[in-house]
Amino acid sequence: MNQIDLNGHKAVVTGAAQGLGYAIAQRLVESGASVSIWDIDGETLKGAVSTLSEIAVEGAVISSEVADVSDADAVDAALAGSTAALDGVDIVVNNAGISGPNVVSWEYDVAAWQKVVDINLTGTFLVCRAAIPAMRAAMGGSSTSPRWLAKKAIPTRRPIARPKRGSLD
Ligand SMILES: NC(=O)c1ccc[n+]([C@@H]2O[C@H](COP(=O)([O-])OP(=O)(O)OC[C@H]3O[C@@H](n4cnc5c(N)ncnc54)[C@H](O)[C@@H]3O)[C@@H](O)[C@H]2O)c1
Repeated sequence: MNQIDLNGHKAVVTGAAQGLGYAIAQRLVESGASVSIWDIDGETLKGAVSTLSEIAVEGAVISSEVADVSDADAVDAALAGSTAALDGVDIVVNNAGISGPNVVSWEYDVAAWQKVVDINLTGTFLVCRAAIPAMRAAMGGSSTSPRWLAKKAIPTRRPIARPKRGSLD
C-alpha cells in the first residue's frame, strides 16, 4: 500500500464518523497526521475518535467536532475547534454527503433535493470558506498538495459557476 509521510500535518475530514470519511481519516492518521473528524452524528463520532486515537503516532492529536456542514455557524465553530485542537489546519477533506432518495426527477420531492444541495454542495463551499484562511495561514515555504490547492484558490470568483459544476456530480 502507498505510504506518504504526513507527520506534522493537520487535517480536517468531514463526515468521518463512519464509511469513506472514517477510512480516509484512518489513512491520514496511519501516515502520521493529526486529524480532526467532523460529523453530524455525535454518538458514532465518539467511537471513531476512540479507535483513531489508538493508532495515532506519538505526538499526533485526534479531535472531533459535531457539526452539520450545511450550517455556516456550525462550520465556523467546528473549524475554530479543530484549529485550536490541532494548532492549525493544512489539509481538508470534504467528504460529508448524502445520496438522497433514489427517485425519478419528475417525482422528486423538492425538500429532499434541497437537502442534498445544502449538504453536498453548499456544505463543501462552507467548509472551504471557513478553512482556506487557516490553510493560507499555515503556508510556509514548503509546498505540499493541500497548500498548493489553497494557493490556487481564487478568493474573488463569482458564485455563478459553482452550482453548474455541482450539477455534474
Ligand atoms: N459510497 C459510495 O459508493 C459513494 C459513491 C460516490 C460518492 N460518495 C460520496 O462519498 C461520501 C461518503 O460516502 P459514504 O458511503 O462513506 O457515506 P456514509 O453515509 O457511510 O457516511 C457519510 C457520513 O457523513 C455524515 N453526514 C451526513 N450528513 C452530514 C452533515 N450534514 N454534516 C456532517 N456530516 C454529515 C454521516 O453522518 C456519515 O457519518 C459522501 O459524500 C457520498 O455522497 C459515496
